[in-house]
Amino acid sequence: MDKRFNGKKNSIFQGRSVLSETSLTPAEMNYLIDFGLHLKYLKRHNIPHRYLEGKSIALLFEKASTRTRSSFVTAAVELGAHPDYLGKDDIHLGKKESVEDTAKILGSMFDGIEFRGFKQSTVDGLAKYSGVPVWNGLTDEWHPTQTIPDLMTLKENFGYLKGLTLTFIGDGRNNVANSLLVGGSMVGVNVHIVAPKSLLPSENHVEIAKKYAQESGSEIVITDDIDKGVKGSNAIYTDVWVSMGESDWEERVKLLKPYQVNMDLMRKTGTPDDELIFMHCLPAFHDTKTEYGKEIEEKYGITEMEVTDEVFRSKYSRVFEEGENRKHGIKAIMAATLGDLFIPKA
Ligand code: CP
Repeated sequence: MDKRFNGKKNSIFQGRSVLSETSLTPAEMNYLIDFGLHLKYLKRHNIPHRYLEGKSIALLFEKASTRTRSSFVTAAVELGAHPDYLGKDDIHLGKKESVEDTAKILGSMFDGIEFRGFKQSTVDGLAKYSGVPVWNGLTDEWHPTQTIPDLMTLKENFGYLKGLTLTFIGDGRNNVANSLLVGGSMVGVNVHIVAPKSLLPSENHVEIAKKYAQESGSEIVITDDIDKGVKGSNAIYTDVWVSMGESDWEERVKLLKPYQVNMDLMRKTGTPDDELIFMHCLPAFHDTKTEYGKEIEEKYGITEMEVTDEVFRSKYSRVFEEGENRKHGIKAIMAATLGDLFIPKA
């Protein structure tokens, strides 16, 4: 036994779950951002980092995914772990078996569990009953494995986080908006949420963010006024107007059309070109090259939704770097919570 640690865990993260941004302290959030960037460097330079050798990881998906699934799979393999994908029709979760019973079984066989699905209570239950680290790969309320990589993308581009302004424009009540609002406020990023009045974030999420903002010095702006909301932004961020599991396209298109990210909106920031980026968690409706895109064009006569193709492909766009960072950020989260790393309290 290593006497330095007196038989205790080596890391403040070991054995913990990441269920939302609030699972972490601001210092831990900053640590994972930097650790994710370090792991990206190791991968780029072919330096092995097999911190999870011999571990098995369950990947539970109730919803479709390109980035989250690929990130967890490739990150696990590069960390030396074995990932097993369990789709919604592969296991009994919620249909023939409770969250509690499923969690107890999976926890007895796997060393860590990722969950992507609808209810936050499902991922919370898996963490409560499994006895192993559980990672939220997206629920209706939070998307922390998106926020940490997004903050990595901001730091990569600007070299720092504190004092930057990130503006989320669109459906301000969705999981990505909640997560950016809280995650950004934890690390001193000013967060603006710009949305129609009926799509502004809940008071509860704003209150959580304001508490962190008081500590970090970040400024929170919640508004339906586009000009006021985007002024001074360093990052304009948007997401699909209708999330997975929702269907009220007509109402959303009508409400959100004025909030589309186009070149006029980018110019409204007043920010110099080299201090402004565009971000999107993806997938994005920026053209009609998808089934949904074609359907929306037929029904509503629009060929672009939350972002124009021009902005999506512009010099401001960091969407594919952001997508790649999902993997490195997720790798940091898994390695810190499941690996045998020495990470002292900040
Ligand atoms: N951003 C995101 O969660 O992407 P996927 O739906 O492809 O996982």
